[in-house]
Amino acid sequence: MPTRRRSWAEPWKIKMVEPLKMLTADERKAAIEGAGCNTFLLRSEDVYIDLLTDSGTSAMSDRQWAGMMLGDEAYAGSRNYYHLEDAVRDVYGYKHLIPTHQGRAAEHMISRLLIEEGDFVPGNMYFTTTRLHQEMAGATFVDVIIDEAHQPDLMHPFKGNVDLDKFQALIDEVGAEKIPYISDATTVNMCGGQPISLENLRQVSELAHANGILVIHDMTRVAENALLIKEREPGQADRSMEEIVRDICDLTDGCTMSSKKDHLVNIGGFLAVNDDALADKARNMVVIYEGLHTYGGMSGRDMEALSIGIYESIQYDHIHARVGQVHYLGNKIADEGIPIMKPIGTHGVFLDAKRFLPHLDQDEFPAQALAAELYVESGVRAMERGNVSAGRNPDTGENRRPALELVRLTIPRRVYTQAHMDVVAESVMEIWDKRESIGGLEFTYEPEYLRFFQARFRPKC
Ligand code: F0G
Repeated sequence: MPTRRRSWAEPWKIKMVEPLKMLTADERKAAIEGAGCNTFLLRSEDVYIDLLTDSGTSAMSDRQWAGMMLGDEAYAGSRNYYHLEDAVRDVYGYKHLIPTHQGRAAEHMISRLLIEEGDFVPGNMYFTTTRLHQEMAGATFVDVIIDEAHQPDLMHPFKGNVDLDKFQALIDEVGAEKIPYISDATTVNMCGGQPISLENLRQVSELAHANGILVIHDMTRVAENALLIKEREPGQADRSMEEIVRDICDLTDGCTMSSKKDHLVNIGGFLAVNDDALADKARNMVVIYEGLHTYGGMSGRDMEALSIGIYESIQYDHIHARVGQVHYLGNKIADEGIPIMKPIGTHGVFLDAKRFLPHLDQDEFPAQALAAELYVESGVRAMERGNVSAGRNPDTGENRRPALELVRLTIPRRVYTQAHMDVVAESVMEIWDKRESIGGLEFTYEPEYLRFFQARFRPKC
């Protein structure tokens, strides 16, 4: 008897739909021109399949929506805050919770609380907002990720890992007293959603703590990282998501969290720490920028949906299907010989724009140009993650020209089906076939901070 194929499908069914609009090619061309060739400046109703980000774009479950009805909108001491505190302690084990409206507010606070002018903060590759808050607090960010992370075609199971020699070299060079903390992210967004291994985090934690350096965990996509630890790290296959996530958190001293990703909510986040004195300072600071320490920037109903999302994020069926969908899309594109960041990560597929458009110089912004072209081709909205996102070196004023020049096709959680993924893959194939006709871009407007969000471009003549 031949073995029959057994397909698997999304582990949810659709209860409510949001119709999509599809513009004509001419309308899309006019829309991207109006947006200065920046997909961030498009109106979302002009987008067919929106893969700009997985941040705040997930579909909440029926349970989360039910939770929205249970919001206790008291200014102080909302019951939903206590549910959130219980969930954070139960799943992640951090002692103190300081709620915020989203991740960057937590980054702002931890940077201001721990960094002094002239300090250095090592990290496993930069993230845009994280590094900017560190720099604004007076620190220099130092990338200590392994070299493999910067090479898109190289296979490595844990490309997010910290290079311990680089971390040690920084300690030797500037002295541990100039390093308040190391920032370790699960997963690493800017190199394709690459995971770290538990073993590496254990070593990082030992080295940091032996030198009096804290480990601050950017746990935006910790459940996705934990799944890849389960699948790839020796000895982890039979362990539960709960156990692996908890091990990760136990090796760190605190976290910043953008709940708009793993936690399946449209807004929310928090800072969580174990140290009592640090927590007191953070609670004192949160009232200045976010709101009282029992709501941060969130309403009671937001906190309830978030508490439920924490538990849903570590359900194996959910996370397995979520990452499986990303891999389905990535394999379909890679099978055509189209260059993507390898191995395929967890929250999106990253096209390698340097190899896609080798005729463009990096200062002609190949990834930005490719994202604009993809939109014109099919109404699929992606995001640049390359020279525009990396910004300018504050000392020289030059574009940073990072090794990775990527277009991110980011998959929202529980929103699109496999058929949408097929359309996306086919659209990428169409522009691959006409890649030689795609030209570069130049700035017409360049904001000072986080320029990728609001910059405008025109085709370079
Ligand atoms: N850290 C990582 C790794 C992130 O991916 C993000 C956001 C943040 C921190 C900041 O969180 O947006 O809630 O303030 N990433 C989004 C993205 C914006 O599209 O990758 P936030």
